[in-house]
Parts: sequence; C-alpha cells; structure tokens
Amino acid sequence: MKYRTLGSTGLNVSVVGVGTWQFGGEWGRSYEQREADAILGRARELGINLIDTAECYGDHLSESLIGPAIRSNRSEWVLATKFGHHFHRPFERTDEFGPADVVRQLEQSLRALQTDYVDLYQFHSGPDAAFDSDTLWDALNRQVEVGKIRHLGISIGSNRNVHQTSRATAVGAEAIQVVYNRLDRAPEEAVFPSCVEQRLGVLARVPLASGFLSGKYKPGDRFGSDDVRSRRDADEQDRLLREVEEIGRSEVPEGTDMAAWALAWCLRHPAVTTVIPGCKDVAQVEANAAAVALVQDGHPQDVRA
Ligand SMILES: NC(=O)c1ccc[n+]([C@@H]2O[C@H](COP(=O)([O-])OP(=O)(O)OC[C@H]3O[C@@H](n4cnc5c(N)ncnc54)[C@H](OP(=O)(O)O)[C@@H]3O)[C@@H](O)[C@H]2O)c1
Repeated sequence: MKYRTLGSTGLNVSVVGVGTWQFGGEWGRSYEQREADAILGRARELGINLIDTAECYGDHLSESLIGPAIRSNRSEWVLATKFGHHFHRPFERTDEFGPADVVRQLEQSLRALQTDYVDLYQFHSGPDAAFDSDTLWDALNRQVEVGKIRHLGISIGSNRNVHQTSRATAVGAEAIQVVYNRLDRAPEEAVFPSCVEQRLGVLARVPLASGFLSGKYKPGDRFGSDDVRSRRDADEQDRLLREVEEIGRSEVPEGTDMAAWALAWCLRHPAVTTVIPGCKDVAQVEANAAAVALVQDGHPQDVRA
C-alpha cells in the first residue's frame, strides 16, 4: 500500500480506501456482519486504513456494520462519516442540517461505530443555504474541541461547487470529498485548484463511475430496482458505457485490469489524496488495492517510507 497525508490533518491515509454506501443496502443486496468483517478484515491486511461511510447509508446501518468489524483495532483506522440527512427507507431521505439535529446524528454515529471519536466528519452534500450557517459550524467546532470529532470535511454535492470548497478553511474544514473519475473531470477546473491553494485533503468518490469504469458493463445492460443505478436515465447510462468501451480500447494498456487502471488514473492528479471505491466483496477489495501497483511515486502528498 502507499500512503498520503490528508491536507493539514496530519492523517496518513492509504491511497485506496473503502467506500461503504454498499453496506446500507441500496446496491442490490444487503449485508450480514460476517460479510462486513471479511471485507474490512481483508482491507486491513492489504494496508487499507481509510473507511468512508455516512449517517444515511441505511439508518446508521453501514456504520453499525463497521463498528463491530473494526472494534478490536479501531485506532489503526481513519474513520470518515457524514451528517445532514435522516434515512427513511431505501432511496428516501430528508435533509437535517440544523445544529441540534447534527449533534444528535453525531451521537448516533458514534454509538453505531462503537467509538468515541470520528476522524473526519463531513458535511454531506447539502445545499449552500445549509452550509452558510455559522451556528452549524460553531456547533461542529465545539464537538472538535471536546474530542468527538478530530477533523471536519465537506463532501460537495455538485463537483463544481466552488462556493463550499472555497470556504472550507473559514469554517474549519480540512478535506473535500468530490466525485472525480475518468468520465467526470469537472473538479480539475476550479475545485482542485482551490483545494491545493488551501492545502485541503481530497477524497475522490465514485472513482469507478459507479462500477462502469470496471469495464464489465455493456450498453443495454440494466440494473434491478433495488440497485441505486436503476434510477439513472437509461440513455445517459448507455452513452457513458459507450465512452467506457472507447477508453478501454484507446487508454487502458493490454492486460491491465480496468478498475485498477481507473483508480490509479484518479490518483495521478496532484490534488487527489485518496480514492474511496465502494466495495461489495473481498474480491473487489483485493482488485482495488492492487491499483497501488499502477500508482507512480513522487506525488506531492506522498508519505515517504
Ligand atoms: N454524497 C456523498 O458524499 C457520496 C455519494 C456517493 C458515494 N459516496 C462515497 O463514495 C464511495 C464510492 O462511490 P460509489 O460506491 O457510489 O461508486 P464507485 O466506487 O465508483 O463504484 C462502486 C461499485 O463498483 C463496483 N466495483 C467496485 N470495485 C470493483 C472492481 N474491482 N471490479 C469491478 N467492479 C467493482 C461495485 O458494484 P457492482 O459490482 O455491483 O458493479 C461497487 O458497488 C461510496 O461507497 C461512498 O462511501 C459519497
């Protein structure tokens, strides 16, 4: 594994982390504790130390699978979760960005995660009106002072949201989470330059374009109604999958696993600290960790051995 320092946090994170929206049950299947244990146990063996989850991947469900899985080695992990929503049922949540709501969500996350601190607590893709609340950030910074949050972050909804990115330092946030992958390079325009200028860590989410950049799906493929990808526009999906086919032909070296290539592609950008691919099983964790072999040394955020 390779490690990079997450902005000014001083946290050294593996360049490949584990995204766990999948544990919440909106990706076509549900999870049992032994499966979460196996996925995160294998991740740890491979040197992965970063887990991304959220309050609304199920009603704190993903967090409640992670907690027992990492309880015996909690201090070795960088645990990133989020705030701002109440999960009602699959594909249905409501915003809850009020300061009291958020502090209550933090307590629920800590209970589910079976820990007394979160390493990175992220504003979960909320609107600018919720973001621009001083009372919200005051409440969060008080939780930093009492030690329940080690660092604050912002997971921007639109990957062109410079409004929130440019105010990160002012609100006390040290990392940005953003959609970035070979099919969607929008953050390169303004978000990444702002991150570099403020020395923010960057977590690239959806690095496999929801699995499309693995190369295993073809135009015309469709997902079941219990899979979040079934909610996409079918024509747009086919267009993206045609683009993936072209990228596979023209950019991915012969014999290289396309998913690993796609993760390494994200990690080339000087602003990107880490990628957090969602992993559904142990084989995907292994394939994603193997991307490290394709990552060049010499990145500005590298932790030198
Ligand atoms: N607003 C936010 O803050 C926000 C929003 C979205 C995501 N996130 C975070 O970012 C993480 C990653 O995003 P994502 O899960 O939406 O998208 P992603 O990482 O681009 O794609 C994940 C999907 O790709 C497939 N996959 C993973 N590894 C693979 C491999 N090696 N080979 C082939 N297929 C593979 C799996 O689905 P199949 O096997 O079924 O194809 C998996 O569910 C999430 O888990 C979550 O933690 C945050």
